[in-house]
Amino acid sequence: LADAIVDAPDRPWEACGNCHGIDGISATAHFPKLAGQKRAYIEKQLRDFRSGLRTNDHGQMSGTDDFPDHALELAAAYFSQLPAPSPANHVDNDISRARTIVDFGLPEAGVPACRSCHNADANIEPWLEAQHAGYLAKQLKDFKSGVRGNDKTMADIARRLSDDDIEKVSGFLAST
Ligand code: HEM
Ligand code: HEM
Repeated sequence: LADAIVDAPDRPWEACGNCHGIDGISATAHFPKLAGQKRAYIEKQLRDFRSGLRTNDHGQMSGTDDFPDHALELAAAYFSQLPAPSPANHVDNDISRARTIVDFGLPEAGVPACRSCHNADANIEPWLEAQHAGYLAKQLKDFKSGVRGNDKTMADIARRLSDDDIEKVSGFLAST
């Protein structure tokens, strides 16, 4: 697979590197890290941006609007096979609540354990580990407000999290 990607004549991922880093490790929380992310998840996001189902990028992903399927698939394959990023140094010293939410959820608030879906299984739920904390928090707030409208399950979960818990969980995940 890796050779087939590198030999692709059009190298569609090069355009992505300007924002996401050609190594898939973007410099700021404005742009998500893509290195090592699940291939099926990257592909779904690309299709959702292209079709207009996901619009919370301030138009910055519009460069992919005229990409054919094979270019989206190659770009997803390229970023997914790069080495995953290292965790951030932890800044928030109250990680116990965040860890509880990730591993067990908040049953009294109807929040399921994040880990029940976001795990190492070969599923489509994205890796959240070592992602920028600011990016994760923005996604959860965008799901909560409906600005990110491409997944009803995550919208339902994010609406049950307080803004304070969103910050705690995002900081914790970035450091794992
Ligand atoms: C988000 C891939 C080009 C800016 C994303 C996501 C993917 C992606 C998969 C979602 C990540 C996630 O949900 O974890 C790509 C690929 C590109 C490309 C494969 C090239 C074909 C660009 C360019 C820019 C850009 C050129 C900057 C002009 C952004 C921003 C977001 C994003 C700002 C986050 C939007 C938000 O806050 O929700 N990109 N991208 N991307 N991309 Fe790109
Ligand atoms: C996406 C956080 C629980 C299914 C996401 C994203 C975040 C997140 C930040 C966006 C990632 C990105 O843009 O790269 C959380 C947290 C959870 C939780 C903090 C626990 C409180 C769950 C559960 C499920 C789930 C329990 C399954 C029932 C998904 C799916 C997506 C997603 C399918 C991708 C949506 C799409 O296609 O755009 N989650 N999640 N999550 N999550 Fe969760």
